[in-house]
Amino acid sequence: MAAMTTYPYLVTISSEKGGVGKTTLATNLAIFLKALNEELPVSILSFDNHFTVDKMFEIKGQPLRGDVADFLGGAPGGELLHTGQYGVNYIPSSKLLGDLKQSIKGTLALARLLANSRIPGILIIDTRPDLDILTQNALFAADRVIIPVKDMASLENCRNIFDLFDKRGFDKKSLSLIPCLIDSRIKFDGPFQDQRSLLKAYAINRGYRCLDTYISKSPKVESLSTNPSGKVYPILTYARSTEVYGQFAQLARGVTQDFSATPSPRALLFREWLASEEARGNEQFSARREGLRPDCLFCNRPVPHPTSGAVGYYFESSDGASCGFLEEHCFSEVLLASIFNLGKGLPADDPKRLMFKEATRGSSFVFRQVGNGSGTMVEFSRFDGEGMQLLKKLYPLREHEGGILGRERSGLYTLVTETLGGHGGNRGDGFLMVHPVTPDRPESILLEENYRDFAKLKKRITVQVAG
Ligand SMILES: Nc1ncnc2c1ncn2[C@@H]1O[C@H](COP(=O)(O)OP(=O)(O)O)[C@@H](O)[C@H]1O
Ligand SMILES: [Mg+2]
Repeated sequence: MAAMTTYPYLVTISSEKGGVGKTTLATNLAIFLKALNEELPVSILSFDNHFTVDKMFEIKGQPLRGDVADFLGGAPGGELLHTGQYGVNYIPSSKLLGDLKQSIKGTLALARLLANSRIPGILIIDTRPDLDILTQNALFAADRVIIPVKDMASLENCRNIFDLFDKRGFDKKSLSLIPCLIDSRIKFDGPFQDQRSLLKAYAINRGYRCLDTYISKSPKVESLSTNPSGKVYPILTYARSTEVYGQFAQLARGVTQDFSATPSPRALLFREWLASEEARGNEQFSARREGLRPDCLFCNRPVPHPTSGAVGYYFESSDGASCGFLEEHCFSEVLLASIFNLGKGLPADDPKRLMFKEATRGSSFVFRQVGNGSGTMVEFSRFDGEGMQLLKKLYPLREHEGGILGRERSGLYTLVTETLGGHGGNRGDGFLMVHPVTPDRPESILLEENYRDFAKLKKRITVQVAG
């Protein structure tokens, strides 16, 4: 038996068909697993909204501390486990999962949650009879998927699950079918004498793995979920005399063996992967930060810094050698004066300034030195967040504003020469990109996820600027 772990081995019970025995299988498998291995933590949760899990496992009077919706919302699964009947832990069901679906990010969200869940031992998930985003999450996170089939229709339906794995390039060896609700009284002539061998033959013919174990149809089992008390009784204690009892015991032994033979369940692999991604992300973040120019090009105050003005932009040269932050005010002044010809020092509430702000919101700006007959020019372009070029214009590159007699250094000149090199540009075809950032957290642009988006945009722009 594997040592006590803080990530679960996940068994998902799934089929697009209703009434094939999923919930009966999920709940009773949990009980048999626990009965076989008293030391093994066994937990269950349901993505369905019928509360069978709760009816079966809840211990009356126990206060509830959250449910499956909280788990999917990010609450640590281990803290949501409730002690249940028969020694099985459960996370209470939720009626709100339908509303929650839109907020589930992708099909690996559950894998991520389980990796950090601190749920030990084996976890069983019962799913709804469809392949919605929750079921897909439960399928992709699972170490074992058990798909009950009871007839040809449910067998045909398995195709969709297998196709889903194919489409994503995931290994299908976790998937296996189990014939359920098999009526052993039905006998056929010919090579397949009964329902079960017929289903199994069809399954194998289609390339699906099928368990040797199967579950018979039993009136006794059926009666356990329909009785005056409104409770759902377990096969382990209420159907000892049936064939189904032995079949569940056999299934539970098989799952236990697989569990013991899996030292690294997917939740652990995912956790290791997340940790390495995080370490890599942190390293790259630090490296990016260390490369930053410490002060604003224009006012030379440290950025970002609490006593300096608000940071509004991140700049980076095409070769990445020059990068840093610019104060919002400083860069706006340069654009207003040198590019938009609106003059310097417009009052903060001047409508022209507000219009300029409105018009350039979310834009990235690109500066490039180009030579023409009469001297060095600056090519200025504006791009939207998708990398669409909105504007392109040429400006002369002059050291001083207001011609030869001007005393004040041109902001455009400072911007271009300090980042791309002096007159004539010794950095060849390079360009400078100036990109807006969130003033409260300017450095967040250097975080892995955001920086990847920035780099993508820069790539799109590079293609257009070079062309
Ligand atoms: N082995 C069985 N023998 C007889 N009836 C069963 C058996 N397993 C499940 N059932 C009954 O079949 C119906 C559907 O089972 P359920 O587990 O709810 O399926 P699902 O979750 O796939 O919809 C229920 O009424 C249940 O009591
Ligand atoms: Mg069900």
